[in-house]
Amino acid sequence: MLIKRIAILGGTGFVGRSLCNRLSQEGYELKVLTRSREYNRDDLIVLPGLELIQTNIHDPEKLKLHLADCDAVINLIGILNEKGTSGKGFKKVHVELVQNLISACAEKGIKRFLQMSALNADATNGKSHYLRSKGVAEELLHSNNAGINVTSFRPSVIFGKNDSFFNRFAGLLKMTPLFFPLACHATKFAPVYVLDVSEMMARSLNDRESFNKKFQLCGPQAYSLKDLVNYTAQILGLKRKIIPLNDILSHIQAAVFDFVPGKPFSTDNYLSAKTDSTCECNDLANYNIQPTAIESVVPQYLNNISYRSAYMQFRRKSRR
Ligand SMILES: NC(=O)c1ccc[n+]([C@@H]2O[C@H](COP(=O)([O-])OP(=O)(O)OC[C@H]3O[C@@H](n4cnc5c(N)ncnc54)[C@H](OP(=O)(O)O)[C@@H]3O)[C@@H](O)[C@H]2O)c1
Repeated sequence: MLIKRIAILGGTGFVGRSLCNRLSQEGYELKVLTRSREYNRDDLIVLPGLELIQTNIHDPEKLKLHLADCDAVINLIGILNEKGTSGKGFKKVHVELVQNLISACAEKGIKRFLQMSALNADATNGKSHYLRSKGVAEELLHSNNAGINVTSFRPSVIFGKNDSFFNRFAGLLKMTPLFFPLACHATKFAPVYVLDVSEMMARSLNDRESFNKKFQLCGPQAYSLKDLVNYTAQILGLKRKIIPLNDILSHIQAAVFDFVPGKPFSTDNYLSAKTDSTCECNDLANYNIQPTAIESVVPQYLNNISYRSAYMQFRRKSRR
């Protein structure tokens, strides 16, 4: 199976941009589908071999049309929050899209598929809509009977310039004087570097050994959320007293934030964060990728973040 042309969904996002860079260096032709070409063109359209196409990926016919000349599909589409709390938004973006992608691949004879999932994704036992819908998508893909060779990637939280983890806490810490109430403070994360994730995906693309595998991706060390927020404050030189909220107060905080525009934290996020996001076995080792430590990267971009760039990032994320 010779892969030349790849359709990338979610190629405009934080992980997607890194992966497009990596794959473009390898000489692949990339077809990035987006809801807004104008909004996402910066940096991307300069990459050799990359075509940025504005379309409605939720329309099955448009999907088939754009996938017709591709040899592989990479799906990075994901949302952390939906409108409302019913789970319908997660189902549309994580499950129905994948169903349509499977049909399109089957019809167009596409045999290679990389799926970005998440640690703890589980169709049955996932604690949140996010984790259950990601789990259903994985199950659909790995049980397809169209001969599509699927590899799923299950990272812990991903860090790197423009991430939404350290940058978000940095923004919140700057806005909060003295005391910082923190929900789910004891949950453990093993942050994994975005370049390690894109390297892993790029290397597995043509590797038959990775067919039908689900790879767990973690950084070299696990930290509690409280440790990570303290670390962020320390890098920024901010003196903040982190106030750990117990489970009931964490739940209440999430329920209140459900009604805040942009949902900086939500009940679904709270439910996801009830389970540690750490690897039983770090599969970066399968490709001899040495996981990058947060300490060697995060200070570089957090210290350089100006108020203007923080404002621009906020605008990007909130699509204003
Ligand atoms: N970042 C992390 O820490 C982390 C951790 C674990 C798993 N993941 C998973 O990794 C993937 C990439 O994450 P990321 O941080 O790069 O996300 P991101 O920056 O938010 O990008 C996600 C992309 O999805 C597209 N998208 C978002 N909502 C959509 C919708 N309603 N309909 C159609 N397209 C939509 C956007 O494309 P357009 O705006 O161009 O249409 C965007 O480029 C996701 O599946 C996420 O669940 C991320």
